[in-house]
Amino acid sequence: MINANKVKSIAVLTGGGDAPGLNAVIRAVVRTGIGHGLKVWGIKNGFGGMVENQVIEMTDEYVAGILPRGGTILGTTNRDNPFNYPTMQGGKTVYKDMSSQALKNLRQRDIEALVVIGGDGSLKIGSEFYQLGFPVVAVPKTIDNDIPGTERTFGFDTAVGVAADALDRLHTTAESHHRVMVLEVMGRYAGWIALHAGIAGGADCILIPEIPFQIDAIIAKIEERQRRGRLFSLIVIAEGAYPQGGEISVSRIVEGSHEKIRLGGAGEKLARQLESLTGVESRCTVLGHVQRGGTPTAFDRVLSTRYGVAAAECLLEGAFGNMVALQKNEIIRVPIVDIAGKANNVTANNELLKAGRSIGICFGD
Ligand code: F6P
Repeated sequence: MINANKVKSIAVLTGGGDAPGLNAVIRAVVRTGIGHGLKVWGIKNGFGGMVENQVIEMTDEYVAGILPRGGTILGTTNRDNPFNYPTMQGGKTVYKDMSSQALKNLRQRDIEALVVIGGDGSLKIGSEFYQLGFPVVAVPKTIDNDIPGTERTFGFDTAVGVAADALDRLHTTAESHHRVMVLEVMGRYAGWIALHAGIAGGADCILIPEIPFQIDAIIAKIEERQRRGRLFSLIVIAEGAYPQGGEISVSRIVEGSHEKIRLGGAGEKLARQLESLTGVESRCTVLGHVQRGGTPTAFDRVLSTRYGVAAAECLLEGAFGNMVALQKNEIIRVPIVDIAGKANNVTANNELLKAGRSIGICFGD
């Protein structure tokens, strides 16, 4: 591997919500960088650490043993945007552009390039730094799999595994009690986790944000199963799913985050409605952050390692302004500006969605 750009010193940061595989990416960036003679720095606590100058030198020892660990050894936050940074003035929070301070902190240590491991919010910030002339390479992270330009974000496979396991467990108790079990999963405005976990866990209904649902369609499915002697039903609902003509369920407002709202509550609403309309006892389980925590699957460890190596190679080759991505099982490079601010959703002709329909899964439409 040539160091065409003669970069000598790089930094890595993790931004936004955590995802299983973050540590595997950090490890791969550090090992590849050090292996090519680079000095590698870690920025703590996401972009906030860049403003606050929380920077540490990364060594081989520092990343030893972290491959299977969930979370991020660097810490992260989904607030603290340097371009709109919260500062205290006279007891009040005032948002300021602190991007110059953040870059000054890097340049003081002779850091010449940055690996941003993050989701859409972090990619947008990374893209803004790149447009200011600072070399950036991005790695697509999120359990939601909603970043365009790549077929997979790391963390998604682990989240799907956790949700499918939950469905297996709900299956036996649903069957024993003749209940309707609703499982609410994460995913924001994309239905990828619900779709994949629902197929893997044998759900009877999968409700995703991309297909606003009709309660009558779900009831028809429950009743059709009852006629066949199947007295229980399993429903997976994405947190961003909503009824036709209805609204998305919001659980909280979060100040200072690029996403002002957090989704939640769709599953409980649905369970109550189904119980009152069908008379079948209906319960909801909200999986929440369990999907994000813990050890990454082997698939995510491999993908994270490939992404980390590829990101470091981009810096060594001077291929700045790219996000590393997976397409047709190859690691490729996609310009960050082409994807920043855009989303990847389940489309009507998605092969897995069509497969689900073929085997009789109800999508609420
Ligand atoms: O983007 C990842 C994600 O876990 C979403 O699925 C979820 O809506 C959101 O983050 C939750 O964010 P927080 O951890 O801030 O509650």
